[in-house]
Parts: sequence; C-alpha cells; structure tokens
Amino acid sequence: MTTLDTGVKIVRNVGRFTFGDGAVAGVADLVASKRSGKSQNAVFLIDEYFKGQKDIAGSLGAKSADAVHFISTVDEPTTQSIDELVAKLHSSGHSSPATIVGFGGGITLDTAKAVSNLLTNGGHAADYQGWDLVRVPGVHKIGVPTISGTGAEATRTCVMTNRETGLKLGMNSDFTVFDHVVLDPSLTSTVPRNQYFYTGMDAYIHCIEALAGSYRNAIGDAYSRETVNLCRNVFLSTDMMASERRSDLMVASYLGGCAIATSYVGVVHPFSAALSVVFGLHHCVANCVVLNATGEFYPEAHAEFRKMIELQKIALPQGVCANLTDELRAALIAATIKHEKPLTNALGTNFRATLTDTRIISLFEKM
Ligand SMILES: [Fe+2]
Repeated sequence: MTTLDTGVKIVRNVGRFTFGDGAVAGVADLVASKRSGKSQNAVFLIDEYFKGQKDIAGSLGAKSADAVHFISTVDEPTTQSIDELVAKLHSSGHSSPATIVGFGGGITLDTAKAVSNLLTNGGHAADYQGWDLVRVPGVHKIGVPTISGTGAEATRTCVMTNRETGLKLGMNSDFTVFDHVVLDPSLTSTVPRNQYFYTGMDAYIHCIEALAGSYRNAIGDAYSRETVNLCRNVFLSTDMMASERRSDLMVASYLGGCAIATSYVGVVHPFSAALSVVFGLHHCVANCVVLNATGEFYPEAHAEFRKMIELQKIALPQGVCANLTDELRAALIAATIKHEKPLTNALGTNFRATLTDTRIISLFEKM
C-alpha cells in the first residue's frame, strides 16, 4: 500500500499532567487552587464504580456547596444524558464552577469534557457533534483516569451517541482537551481483570490500526510504536496487573490517545462501532471481539492478540452475531461503512470493492 504522508494536523495536547503512584492525593489541592472570588464551587463527576467508597468526593477536595454526581457506566454517553446532567447543574446553582473533576473511566472522562464545553457554550450537546463547533473554552477541567486504555484523558473529543439520529460523534475541539490530567497507576489496582484487558487493548488496537494505515505521519507513528511496545510489556508479561505493568499501561493509554489525535484508526473501529450501535456492546470489549474475527486484515496483530488473551486467560463474549435477521444485517453494514475515513486509511478509497456486503456479514458472523 502506498503511504500518504498527510502531515501533522493541528493538535493541542493536555495542558499539564501529574504522574505517579499517589498522584491522586494532589487533586484536592489542585481543586482548591482553582477556587476564586467569582467561582467558589466545583463539580465532581465520579464513576459510579466508586459510589460505595467512603468519602470519595471529599478525598478529591469536594466541599458541601459543590456538586457531586456519580456517572452511570451502563450505557455510553448520549447527547440526551449530557443535556440532562447540564440541566441539573444549572438548577443546582453550578452553572459556572471553578473547575470540573472527571474521575473514572472513558465514559466519565468524556462526560466531564462535554459538560465543561456546554456550561460555557450553551445550547445542547447535539449542537457540537462534529469538528471545531465549540465556540469558546469550557470550564477548567481535571481528568483522573481510573482505568487505562481508551486514551480519553488525552484526546480532543468526547464520544456521545445521539439517540434520536443514531449519530455517534464527539465534540472534536481544542477546547475539549483536559487542562490537567492526573495519572496515578495505583488507581487501577482494583479493576476487574477482563475489563482491564479489554480497555487496555483499546490503546493497542488504536495503534496497530494507525501503523497499518496509509494516512501516516512521523509524530503519530512515534506515539503509536511506543504505545504498542508498552502494551506488549503489559499483556505479554505473566502478571499484567503488577504495579509496574499498570504504570506502563497508564502511559500507553495516554500516548495512544495522543497517537489517535494525530492519525487514524482502521478496520477494527468501524466494525466495533457497528456492534456498539446495533447491539449496545461497549467500545473496548467490542474492539476485542472484532480483532479476534478480523485476522485477515491484521495477521500479525491478530496472532499477538491471541497470544495475549491466552496468556492472560481472558474470556471473550461468544456468538455476539448469532441469529442475525435481514434487518440487523442491513443495520450492521450501514453502521460499519459510514466510517469512511478509517476504512479508507486501512483499505484505500475504493474500500467497498474489497469490503462487500457479503464479506462484511461473513466477518460479523464470525463474532
Ligand atoms: Fe477506541
């Protein structure tokens, strides 16, 4: 395949970050430093996984006048769920907080980014689905990932599905990037093993797709290569959740996020998005299901993925696409081929010549 050097797009990186075991202890001071005369209150969006953890909000610096919301991870963010949360913040008197803390996985981090933009820009989440539609900077925001892989802590988007239109697209904007990210590997020690694997593989998959594509540039490639190296350190080791391995994966996630901000994914993500839209499968597990069935596109990565999944003794959902109806087949095809940019990156502009309806369905039937 010919390599098209598309150059480096204009990219804004995270403003500041703190890294290291125990770094989360600094969040409270960070929040306190943002409280100023005109905005004294803060907003804390915390993954519902931590709901039972004693005084989790207080440990992050929350005070009684602040807003604390636990973010459900049953469904990925929708434009409707974001609008509802913003309306709650307006009605509780938290329209212009000093800062927003997002503490959790990709869903929570993306929610924090979207809410930050909406509080200052007004309107509805759906108004900003696309590229560079956010007009003014959002509220200052701090991202604290508690699981590694999606790269949500590093990217300039926040993925949301519009339930009315079926559009799964984020607010791609420089203003979506976190002002401060706190990377504390100690936070990932209690992640369930399957979830840890699926989510970590998102970083690996972003980068093997980017490196196999035709839209390439030296910076994206460098981020991607190091991300893949770190993922190998983690998932080809005997204990993927050892302290140093969790640290490697947190860095891989961050660099993988930087990689996709400067390059494109490939075949796996469009098929994975179709599984999410049609069957509601979460992004990271859907990616693993897809890579497991699409070895013909990525033979080396597929072999390595099989090695990793066996070594780590991870179970994948089976028969995801058993019992397809004509209606489901049509929906899966439509939801896959709409991702033209990544499919072109992987297969060329004429991707439909090789990726026929029959081939798409036969791939889904292997999942
Ligand atoms: Fe992804």
